[in-house]
Amino acid sequence: MTREEFSEDTASEITAGFGNRPEMLVQILHAFMDRFGYIGEEAVRLLAANLNLSRADVHGVVSFYHDFRTAPAATHVVKICAAEACQAMGSRSLADHASKSLGLAMHESNDRITLEPVYCLGNCACSPAIMVDGKTIGRVSPERFDRIVAGLDGRS
Ligand code: FES
Repeated sequence: MTREEFSEDTASEITAGFGNRPEMLVQILHAFMDRFGYIGEEAVRLLAANLNLSRADVHGVVSFYHDFRTAPAATHVVKICAAEACQAMGSRSLADHASKSLGLAMHESNDRITLEPVYCLGNCACSPAIMVDGKTIGRVSPERFDRIVAGLDGRS
């Protein structure tokens, strides 16, 4: 999904749409993610000013939720389910394999791929599940993971 570049005017329109109410911070952060794809330092500064919060307050909420990215994503976003049903079916070792084979820790990106955890994709019957560029894929073995990742540039 192509996101637009962060602009203070657009960001302020979004916060005004929520009445600049500090209790709407999580909803506003989701709106920023939809619009800009991440919550950067300038977004944190603007949110703190517009909602009359400290930057530490905003940082605290951004870092608490796994959904909020603090840097732009790479071309492809690969999410590995870390919730219970997938863990029971080996998602931890799949995540270890993914980290090793991509050379990325969770929440890191290289020039091609961003690797992130996700907490249930609603595909528990087909654990372990991953999501690649918004598409859910079930029953992913380490070998299948490698094939999926190798095929990514063909469909970018
Ligand atoms: S626990 Fe992984 S899809 Fe539900």
